[in-house]
Amino acid sequence: MDKKTVLSGIQPSGSLTLGNYIGALKNFPEFQNEYDCYYCIVDLHAITVPQVPQDLRKNTLEVLALYLACGLDPDKSTIFIQSHVHEHAELAWVLNTITYMGQLNRMTQYKDKSKKYNESINAGLFTYPVLMAADILLYQADLVPVGEDQRQHLELARDLAIRFNNKYSDTFNIPEPFIKKSGSKIMSLQDPAVKMSKSDQDKNAYILLLDDKDTIRRKIRRAVTDSENHIDYNDNQLGLKNLIDIYSSLTDKKAEEIVAMYQSKGYGEFKDDLAEVIIESLDPIQKRYKEIISDRVYLEQVYASGAVKAGRKASKTLRKVYKKVGFVPKTDITK
Ligand code: AMP
Ligand code: TRP
Repeated sequence: MDKKTVLSGIQPSGSLTLGNYIGALKNFPEFQNEYDCYYCIVDLHAITVPQVPQDLRKNTLEVLALYLACGLDPDKSTIFIQSHVHEHAELAWVLNTITYMGQLNRMTQYKDKSKKYNESINAGLFTYPVLMAADILLYQADLVPVGEDQRQHLELARDLAIRFNNKYSDTFNIPEPFIKKSGSKIMSLQDPAVKMSKSDQDKNAYILLLDDKDTIRRKIRRAVTDSENHIDYNDNQLGLKNLIDIYSSLTDKKAEEIVAMYQSKGYGEFKDDLAEVIIESLDPIQKRYKEIISDRVYLEQVYASGAVKAGRKASKTLRKVYKKVGFVPKTDITK
């Protein structure tokens, strides 16, 4: 039987946070043995908000090195840079023509980002979810591991696949989101009402995968809790709830177990232990990252062969799509 396909991507729009790790990246390697996996670094998405070109280049290689440091194996998964496979932009164009403006207007990520960057809203930010649908549908993905904030985008990808199939005949597989119950929405350490984000102005709001030990300890110590002075897991103590979620995701202990462990202890002791849990999880990743990031030849090999493998699958799907919509097939006279 054919293996099912997994696809996911992360934007190289800055250093990755603990939220990216717990919500997405940590789950990626788990699929490698059972699924045909595609993991991309979505640089085309990143330019929908302002980027400094040399930083974008640096961040792209940084995300690639983090993929590898977190356990993605280029012999098992196809790891590539989105802009290296031109079919993504091409399929996005075709999908744009079957997407309703109203659907895109309802996207909460677009609404949030357009508020934040209100001086410089571009059309790419509006059609961002269509490009994401193209990423997924090009590879006929069955499963897409993402954080909770991407659920609505996944719904659109499914909707566009169904619409295209109905209009032109069966072409795309209908993808399913893979969103874990716990850890799929890690919140800001400074305001547990908003998600942890690498673009937060306040550096204390997030932990980066590459933060050093003292920075991690300091940020966790400063994390906002409450004045109840009682360790519990509920919606009235959102700051604490978030810290317990982080602890739980990194240790596989259930929230109730953690509450029981710290029943008679103070917030200070819980936070100190949590900082060590985070450090222990990130330390091996950071060590591997340091080796990998300095090996530019290896990184180049990985993304170059990834682009070839991804391109093969992507071109096959795009050829089908072009044929179904009625484009005249290109004849290759160089052969
Ligand atoms: P992005 O950085 O927006 O490209 O996100 C990459 C992946 O990380 C996506 O699957 C997101 O859903 C996930 N993600 C981002 N922030 C968080 C968060 N605070 N908690 C859980 N998952 C997250
Ligand atoms: N939009 C996703 C995010 O911001 C990143 C992304 C782009 C993605 N293309 C994808 C995720 C395809 C999964 C599958 O997090």
